[in-house]
Amino acid sequence: MKQIAILISGSGSNLEAIINACKSKEIHGQVACVISNNPDAYGLERAKKFNINTRVIDHKLYLEREKFDDDLQFFLEELSPDLIVLAGFMRILGSKITDKFSDKMINLHPSLLPLYPGLNTHDQVLINKDNLHGISIHYVSPALDGGPLIAQGVIKVKKNEEKNNLIDRIHKLEHKLLPKIINEICLGKINLVEGKVVYTDFKTLKKGFIHNYYEI
Ligand code: GRF
Repeated sequence: MKQIAILISGSGSNLEAIINACKSKEIHGQVACVISNNPDAYGLERAKKFNINTRVIDHKLYLEREKFDDDLQFFLEELSPDLIVLAGFMRILGSKITDKFSDKMINLHPSLLPLYPGLNTHDQVLINKDNLHGISIHYVSPALDGGPLIAQGVIKVKKNEEKNNLIDRIHKLEHKLLPKIINEICLGKINLVEGKVVYTDFKTLKKGFIHNYYEI
């Protein structure tokens, strides 16, 4: 059974979707630990409800960013998970730790990368009157939201759509696509080889990657 570490900073709705997918065997793996940089993250409560180990590494207690990364890296090395998922983890990690886990650390980002790396993606979509919005799942590299893309999900932005509605639909899309991709990785069907994402069966590519519309 593949062991998954999930890093969060806030609500943890994606975490809960992953936990449920593990319980229902949609994911062939289990959540070994939930790690948060924020002691007040609601996701920690969600993890405890399912009796999953939690660990807080509070970034506010560190004067230097690198020291936080070092402690996180040390903890992850001890835990030795097969996969590390950044699911709403709002800290930028330095190259030492991202290089260390480059082939086993993935990030969920709420935009169609390379559009809108960083924060406030929904606002930018609305301000720019984009027709499409979506999510990206990618391997983590030192570049912010810039690592090799694994999969994207796309939705059409509705006419005069309120931001909260858009966020809600993006969340629903995340809760569907992220568990699917985690499972494909757990099954060994998606790998990072020499910096490139390799899909071992074509179904994955058709179902998972870009131009995939979800009418949510
Ligand atoms: C998600 O939309 C994720 O893409 C973004 O932060 C949000 C986290 O939501 N990075 P949750 O904590 O999983 O509910």
